Amino acid sequence: MRELTVELGERSYPIYIGEGLLKEASSYFLKHGISTKSPLMIITDSHVAGLHLQALESELAGAGFKTVSAVVPSGESSKSLSMLESLVTKALQEGLDRKSTIVALGGGVVGDLAGYVAASYMRGIKFVQVPTTILAHDSSVGGKVAVNHPLAKNIIGAFHQPEMVLYDLHLLQTLPPREVKAGLSEVVKHGLIWDETFVDWCEEHAEKLLALDPDALGYALYKGCSVKAAVVSQDERENDLRAILNLGHTIGHALEAVAGYNELLHGEAISIGMIGSAKLGLRYGAPEEVYTVTKRVLAACGLPVRLPEHFDVDAVMEAMMHDKKFTEGTMVFVVPTAIGKVEIKPDVQVAWVREIVEQLKQEGGQR
Ligand SMILES: NC(=O)c1ccc[n+]([C@@H]2O[C@H](COP(=O)([O-])OP(=O)(O)OC[C@H]3O[C@@H](n4cnc5c(N)ncnc54)[C@H](O)[C@@H]3O)[C@@H](O)[C@H]2O)c1
Ligand SMILES: [Zn+2]
Repeated sequence: MRELTVELGERSYPIYIGEGLLKEASSYFLKHGISTKSPLMIITDSHVAGLHLQALESELAGAGFKTVSAVVPSGESSKSLSMLESLVTKALQEGLDRKSTIVALGGGVVGDLAGYVAASYMRGIKFVQVPTTILAHDSSVGGKVAVNHPLAKNIIGAFHQPEMVLYDLHLLQTLPPREVKAGLSEVVKHGLIWDETFVDWCEEHAEKLLALDPDALGYALYKGCSVKAAVVSQDERENDLRAILNLGHTIGHALEAVAGYNELLHGEAISIGMIGSAKLGLRYGAPEEVYTVTKRVLAACGLPVRLPEHFDVDAVMEAMMHDKKFTEGTMVFVVPTAIGKVEIKPDVQVAWVREIVEQLKQEGGQR
């Protein structure tokens, strides 16, 4: 079992990563002061419910916790105000009070949604993250919780830190291969922004990671969470440093928007976006390896590195212009200057970005 702390003063909390932690969930819950008297609501999605909900319910019930469960449809559309309302209705009907806890059992969708329920219900109650995807190593740390508005993603939300993150590697064994790869994209991102040695490690261990080897996976999630925790500890509310976590996201978000949020998974879009950022880095004089290594490690993790031909560059640029980071003629971009190092460039020429998006269609290698 590995443990690390997100250092945020009185809001600090631990992340536990290991095999079989769900079987000991009640002892972790008791250790962290989760009430056995007030009802506790587990929020999960329809896929995860069929796989792992019963195990968590019976483990907690066995130790005297009063659990109620709410299952939302799997997928991004559950991050909505109407779902928030129905979960609050359920919380009221089940008698959740100020000392109650919300448990998010699932990926980033459940984590963001359940976290926002916890942030809003009675002006904020405790919550615990039990992540079940690789991507959730990112979303479960840092306290950003939100639902979507039809006009914008993650636009209704809060900063609400969990009491703890309980990451049981066994739960990830049921992940579909495409979700495994997509999750690795953000793991690699954490290396690219912070830690060159970890990027090399990811490339060397890519096969093991894709096979969900518990030792490799545990280490990768530990490292990924450590980087996220270090960044968040220094800048909880994204005043400056936290923006480096957006490496690859300006292009990536535009690709997701153009693809209509179903052709590309988030991690896949970010992978292509990180190749774009690396190419931008070259324009700022970064060594060639910034591009070659970025591409190699992402390809090794089975991620796409080329923009599919049918994407309309005008539409991608248009989507980027809606991005809040855009100002006249120039854009703000997270740009790699070396492997493991990035800088925020406030004045990137839009014309350069367009050229790079066009070039992304010509990338050799996978997909
Ligand atoms: N709060 C943050 O800081 C932050 C950061 C990054 C991403 N996010 C959010 O995270 C969300 C994406 O998260 P995600 O990729 O985990 O998506 P997700 O929660 O939709 O999970 C992906 C798919 O895998 C399924 N699944 C989850 N766990 C499983 C398991 N163990 N076995 C089998 N299937 C399983 C889910 O049902 C779903 O179909 C987005 O909404 C994004 O906005 C938030
Ligand atoms: Zn992301």
